[in-house]
Amino acid sequence: MTAQSPSSRAALPQWQHVAAHAAAMGGTHLRDLFAADAGRGERLVLDACGLHVDYSKQRITGETLPLLLKLAEACGLRQRIDAMFAGEKINTPEHRAVLHVALRAPQGEKILCDGHDVVPDVHEVLGRMAAFCRQIRSGTWKGHTGRPIRAVVNIGIGGSDLGPVMAYEALRHVADRQLTFRFISNVDGTDFVEATRDLDPAETLFVISSKTFTTLETLTNAHSAREWLLAKLGDPAAVARHFVAVSTNAAEVSAFGIDTANMFGFWDWVGGRYSMDSAIGLATMLAIGPELFEEMLAGFHAIDEHFRTTPFERNLPVLHGLLAVWNTTFLGAHTIAVLPYDQYLKRFPAYLQQLTMESNGKRVTLDGRVIDDYQTGPIFWGEPGTNGQHSFYQLIHQGTRMIPCDFIGFAQSANPLGRHHDLLMANVFAQAEALAFGKTADMVRAEGVPESLVPHKTFPGNKPSTTILAKQLTPRALGSLVALYEHSVFTQGCLWGINSFDQWGVELGKVLAKRIVPELESATEPKLEHDSSTNALIRWYRQASS
Ligand code: F6P
Repeated sequence: MTAQSPSSRAALPQWQHVAAHAAAMGGTHLRDLFAADAGRGERLVLDACGLHVDYSKQRITGETLPLLLKLAEACGLRQRIDAMFAGEKINTPEHRAVLHVALRAPQGEKILCDGHDVVPDVHEVLGRMAAFCRQIRSGTWKGHTGRPIRAVVNIGIGGSDLGPVMAYEALRHVADRQLTFRFISNVDGTDFVEATRDLDPAETLFVISSKTFTTLETLTNAHSAREWLLAKLGDPAAVARHFVAVSTNAAEVSAFGIDTANMFGFWDWVGGRYSMDSAIGLATMLAIGPELFEEMLAGFHAIDEHFRTTPFERNLPVLHGLLAVWNTTFLGAHTIAVLPYDQYLKRFPAYLQQLTMESNGKRVTLDGRVIDDYQTGPIFWGEPGTNGQHSFYQLIHQGTRMIPCDFIGFAQSANPLGRHHDLLMANVFAQAEALAFGKTADMVRAEGVPESLVPHKTFPGNKPSTTILAKQLTPRALGSLVALYEHSVFTQGCLWGINSFDQWGVELGKVLAKRIVPELESATEPKLEHDSSTNALIRWYRQASS
């Protein structure tokens, strides 16, 4: 900690009250908190929009949330939420509104951006997407040789990939199994080759998803896709039947050679990592159909309304966000593990990594101050349960770090199979219980364990977790779950005083790679003017790859 500048969030009295409370709590153990309050497990829960959230195993006392809520107020969370929903340009460094909530606003609702109601625009695109999806799914859209489409390949990266692939995987059980879906993101040619090796170009549709339509990885893959298609179909006119684009950049879409009649647009007020429910969700809609896509949007919207209107003390995204700030900034956690106990959510942690870390991986406040007196965005990571239990849970249980966990589970399996689901869910509850309460040295001794092994077999406990449950993994539940995290991220960003909606940190590497590409491809030895390590690596590569 360095001296706090007067404009630092850490200089707020409300911040200092939270910090003092965290210090006073010391190592107060969850065992003691539960022992002192028989009703804790039933009281520290929230039900909203079909989600049941138990946060009783967080390291909080009766004082913690009131103090965090006061801090939220002092940081202007109410005003920030209202400004976002009102279409104000809260992404000030980019001078943009942040209106992903408009993507799921029902028809008839009014959301203004620069005085223009954007809701009809959203529904116009949704209508075009639905009509297109019906054509593909019914087989009435024919490929260039007259055959129906049987494979859909989404090409995109970051928000133009992670959302579509996560949602496709999550909702596979309600997807059209007649269609094959593939997702290509990496500029590594292996991604392209493996995704297309068994596909027939005459039956393949490429969805080129890129907000900017200038992203190197996506355009490189899109060009390879065109060559792959034309190598078999020959006629350049085939592109019109096998390529559609999702973008905000009509000029670049047409420069690539895709007819803008086959383009589905969105707007600069949708951030890439907040775009899975915009036209970027075209692959999702192709998989699950327009009606279920609408249900997913309704799930998002339910949480939007809950977030906008519910008092903070019962507001799920607000509480979830405040607990992330509490754990990260005040209790010193560096990472948060997201542990979905549902195989269909296997890409959910990867999706959340972009949502959380591209949003809140910032070290400068909205007003340009470098933050040197508190920690901001934590590292998010995770794997589906129960696999993680046989891998990294050891460190969570007995390592030296505190890693708060979000457990996610469902009451009913999409694939009921014998005892599987009860076994799965028993593990969710058991892991959260073990993390919170641990196993004392006395308990271990009482089992007759030799003294030399007692420390090894002791579980310290006091590891915080939140358990998020829903009845089933439906499109609606998925929408609500994603919206919960979106608004939690917003809440966290507001408390840290940062902008959750830009991502300048991805730029430098892109620029440097552009400079290095010709140095790798040059037929003659290039003059290298990097540092000695980068120069040597380039030389090694040139030699080894020739
Ligand atoms: O990684 C930077 C980024 O701009 C992300 O924010 C975005 O989701 C991704 O690249 C892809 O961008 P685009 O959709 O414009 O191709």
